[in-house]
Order: sequence, then C-alpha cells, then structure tokens
Amino acid sequence: MAKKKKDEARVGIIGVGSHLPKKVLANEDLEKMVDTTDEWITTRTGIKERRIADEGTATSDMAKDACEEALKDANMKASDIDLIIVATITPDMPLPSTACILQSKLDAKNAVCFDISAACAGFIYGVSTAEAYIKSGLYKNALVVGSEKLSAFTDWKDRNTCVLFGDGAGAVVLAPVKRGGILSTYMGSDGTQADLLKVPAGGSKMPATKKTVEERLHYIKMSGSELFKHAVKIMADAGNKAASMLNYSCDDIDWVIPHQANIRILNAVANRMKLNSKKIYLNIRRYGNMSSASTAVALVDAVKEGRIKKGDIIVLDAFGAGLVWGAMVIEW
Ligand code: UT7
Repeated sequence: MAKKKKDEARVGIIGVGSHLPKKVLANEDLEKMVDTTDEWITTRTGIKERRIADEGTATSDMAKDACEEALKDANMKASDIDLIIVATITPDMPLPSTACILQSKLDAKNAVCFDISAACAGFIYGVSTAEAYIKSGLYKNALVVGSEKLSAFTDWKDRNTCVLFGDGAGAVVLAPVKRGGILSTYMGSDGTQADLLKVPAGGSKMPATKKTVEERLHYIKMSGSELFKHAVKIMADAGNKAASMLNYSCDDIDWVIPHQANIRILNAVANRMKLNSKKIYLNIRRYGNMSSASTAVALVDAVKEGRIKKGDIIVLDAFGAGLVWGAMVIEW
C-alpha cells in the first residue's frame, strides 16, 4: 500500500493521449457473425460498438499515436522521455518487447523500455511502476501506455467472448508535480484464479502446433459469470481501500474512472461502494473492453470531454486476468 506523506514530492499526469482505430464493429454486425442479438449484448454488457484495428496495424502502432498525442499535450519531445512502459497482453510479438518497438517508432532514443503484463489492470500497474521509478530519482519522467489489439486474440466464432472486446490505446506522461498528483495506490493479485481468463496456447507451456491452432487455443477463453462475481467485489474493495488510505469517503471522490468490462459490473461496484453511479465514468458503449487500454482511454476521454476539472479527486479502478487489480487516487 502506498499512501503519500504530506511533504513528499508527488508524481502526476502532465499529458494525455489516445488512439482508437477508425473501423467500427457494431452489435448489428456481430448478429451476422455469431448467434447473438443487439438486445442481448446491450442489456448484458452495455456495449453497442467497438473499434477494430486494420490487419496491418500492431499494438505498437496504436501506442505510437496515443503517445505522440500525450507528448504534445505535455509539451515534450520523445527524446525528453527517460522511461517507456507499455502495458499490454497483446504484444506485437513475444520478443522483443512492444516498448522497444515503440521506442524506435517514436525515436525516443534516451528511454529505458519494457512491457508490463497485468491484463486489464496493466495501465494502473504501469503508472504505479513509473511513479516509483520517478520518486526514487532514477528517472525524471515516464511515458506509460495501455495498448491492445484484442481483435487478434478474439475467437470470432465464440459468442461468449467475441462480443466483448475492442482495440485501442491510451497514454500518459508522468513527471514530478508541485500540486495534485498520485495520492494513494492499492494493488493486489490472486494467481489461484488464473484459469478464469486466459489464452491457453502460444507460450512455453503449450507452444503453437497444428493441433493448438485447430483447437482454437490461441484465442481468449473466459469463465464470464465467475469473473463477474470476483470483479464486483474486488473493484469495490480496491476503490474503497485506496480512498480510505487517505481517509476519503465517497463524498470526496469526484470521478471513478474504471476498467470497462461490463456496465452491470460497474453499477454493482457503485452500489457496493455506496457511490452515486453518476460518478462512474463510462465509455463502454462505444469501445467495449480494451483490457489495459480501457482505463487509460476512459481517463483520456474524461479529460478531453472536460469532465475532469483541476483539483478533482479521481479514482482509477481496474480488475482483470491473473487475477490482478489496482485502484489509484489522483488529485487532478
Ligand atoms: O476484463 C476483465 C475481466 N472480465 C470480466 O470481468 C467479465 C465478467 N463477465 C461478464 O461480463 C459476463 O459474465 C458476460 C457478459 C461475459 C456474460 O454475461 P452473463 O450474464 O454472466 O451470462 P452467462 O455467461 O451466464 O450466459 C447466459 C446465457 C447463456 O445461455 P444459457 O446457457 O443460459 O442458455 C449463454 O450461452 O447467455 C448466453 N450467451 C449469449 N447469448 C446471446 C452468452 N453469450 C451470448 C451472446 N449472445 N453473445
């Protein structure tokens, strides 16, 4: 747990950017692909459409666009950046890291680069890692991006999963700030539940073979209803813990910017936190679940739409495969 002392220098977000592919896949399009309906998807998930990257677009390409926008917003050049962290479960390839590929595309020649694999909580894990490095004095700033091409790992014949996911990227620039910034962070993991959401093949345990491809084991497999129960409890607890570390109540929170997996999860989280659900920022209708990019893009959208004002107290809150979770209180 990381609660900041009052006189401790803080790290804050000084620039934001996002990239959403142009191609829109609507529920009506999915009706033609699998046995589903717009009505089922809308009422069970809150999703109406999602973005799908072109075949030739990789996770690093979406990350590049999001990072360039964040750098511009921060009034910085790529060569100013000390550290690049890419949060992703859909890397360009197993090696090298997507962060190194991104470094080359950005021409951020002075940065140290690595990826973080923490699924839907990846953006919060990445921001927290960057914060720790900056506070240690090792690096003076960082670029953190959640970028995912989930469409490449989605089984377009499986109605249980293919209606849920989308592609996109959200990025932030982090640096020491004189006011506001990250106030508290609470993170956790539970590997005993690793089987609930996974891509079974393609790693060292089950390398790619003709059989793994035929059995569609390179796609996302999910135990949806079990995850649902964990998600509600864990996201509510994480949000409450990060806020209570500061002795904040729900009244002190202006916005919760959550991972967007399911609108019913988010309504139940608000209920459990005893939080007015109008304080939960939602963009799931437009983009679906973009794993690590979800919380990042939600933050960027909320800023761009003018919802978040200077001095607002916001709580990033995410949960995902691992299981992993994290909540972070930021004064904007
Ligand atoms: O990103 C981080 C982690 N992800 C999550 O936390 C996701 C958590 N889970 C969920 O969001 C929900 O569990 C889902 C949206 C995935 C599924 O909703 P659900 O209310 O839990 O439905 P279910 O899996 O219990 O399925 C209910 C029924 C089943 O039919 P039967 O067996 O009752 O006849 C499914 O086969 O709905 C059926 N179904 C569908 N029907 C139409 C499942 N997917 C579809 C579909 N269209 N796309």
